[in-house]
Order: sequence, then structure tokens, then C-alpha cells
Amino acid sequence: MNKDIIIECQQIEKIYDDGASQVQVLKSLDLTVYKGERLAIIGQSGSGKSTLLHLLGGLDQPSNGKVIVHGTDIHQLNVKKQGEFRNQYLGFVYQFHHLLAEFTALENVAMPLLIRGNKPALATKKALELIDRVGLVDRQSHKPGELSGGERQRISLARALVTNPTCVLADEPTGNLDQQTADETYGLILELNKSLDTSFVIVTHDRKLAARMDRTLKLMNGHLETVSD
Ligand SMILES: Nc1ncnc2c1ncn2[C@@H]1O[C@H](COP(=O)(O)OP(=O)(O)OP(=O)(O)O)[C@@H](O)[C@H]1O
Ligand SMILES: [Mg+2]
Repeated sequence: MNKDIIIECQQIEKIYDDGASQVQVLKSLDLTVYKGERLAIIGQSGSGKSTLLHLLGGLDQPSNGKVIVHGTDIHQLNVKKQGEFRNQYLGFVYQFHHLLAEFTALENVAMPLLIRGNKPALATKKALELIDRVGLVDRQSHKPGELSGGERQRISLARALVTNPTCVLADEPTGNLDQQTADETYGLILELNKSLDTSFVIVTHDRKLAARMDRTLKLMNGHLETVSD
């Protein structure tokens, strides 16, 4: 495996503090994600998987520690630069999709390209290619409220992939899918991983999906433990 490092977490801690009580979710957590690797993160509900993924994507601040993406400490960037950095290198599939309700599936998928400054015609063309790959061309003009949960997840995956990111962070991307659609989604992930050397960090409860990744880590008591190599 190519050992270029894409993401490195050093001694990450995350404490949620609402004034009345403190919850320490992550404790001195270290993680290295290499170029082109497929990494599964498993762990019980509430163990901190979504929290960790948000920190890796610069969507939330760690209480302590550093997250280095492509050699840059993302939490040292201002919010605008963080957004640009994310748009350039990362694709994010949220646990609860976060599609924009007032836009169509096609517009949602094209959005990261428009933000990047691509011309609308090019953004639309690329977005349609990705929508085709997730098998939803006939739903392109539907708004998120007119899509099923699984369809929303697939559109969300298309949106994360449309910019050809070096790393995709996906929070239970197959959580609402039947086994066949989950397998097809996994096939797409594998294809992009092979053809573009895209790294994937996938949080999943799906043991079958985890078993098909290069490496699985389990989040437990605030730390990551190796399950398999
Ligand atoms: N904003 C917040 N304020 C306080 N506590 C929070 C906040 N967000 C999450 N938590 C707590 O942190 C812990 C980890 O939450 P997180 O969403 O990361 O879990 P998870 O592993 O993704 O769980 P699931 O598998 O259910 O999605 C939980 O106990 C949760 O209640
Ligand atoms: Mg979660």
C-alpha cells in the first residue's frame, strides 16, 4: 500500500461541556489514514463515531489535540479557509444526509462544484454522472422530501464524491439500505477507491461492509482499537 498520509490525528480529546455536566467522548485518540486505504470504524451507539468523523472533517473542534489533513492543521484555519479546504480534499456523507430541502437531487449534488467555482453546465454534467453511478438518474429532479431514506443516502454519497476528494468521510452510508443496494453502494466505493485511489473512512454498524474494508478499528472508551489489519 502507498503509505502517503492523508489524515493524522494526534492526541485528540473531545469533551462536551454544557456547563452543568461534562461528557468526555474521545480520550488521547491517535489515528492515521493513508492514501487509498479503506478504513472502517465500528463501535457501540454513543461511543463517539460521529463525533470523531466531524473532527476529521473540521466540522467540529477538538477540546485538545490536532487533526492534520494533507499536512495542514485544519483547526488552525479560519472557518472560510476550513470550508475551502474541505471542498478541495474531503467528501462528507452525514449520518442524517443534510441535503438541502429546497433544492433538487441534481442541484444538491452539483452544489460542491458550484461552490468551487465550476461553471453550472460543467457542474451539472459531473453531478449527473455521479447520480447515474448511484442509479438515480430518474430521480434527479426530486427534492429530498420526495426521495426515500436510502435514495437520500445515495444522493448524499454522490454529493460527497462529485469533487473527486482524496478522502471520503462517511457516517453509516449504507445504514438505511437493503442488502442489495448496500452491496451496490459498496461496489461504487470500491470502484472509486481502485480507480482514483480515494481513501474512505466509513463509520458502520454493518459487519459485512466492515469486513470488506482494508482495516477495521473499534471505538471504545474514547480510544480506537485494532480489530483487523
Ligand atoms: N453536542 C453534544 N453535546 C453533548 N453531548 C453530545 C453532543 N453530541 C454528542 N454527544 C454525546 O457524545 C456521545 C457520542 O455521540 P456520537 O454521536 O459521536 O455517537 P455515535 O458513536 O456516532 O453513536 P450512533 O452509533 O448512535 O450514531 C454520546 O453519548 C452523545 O450523547
Ligand atoms: Mg453516529
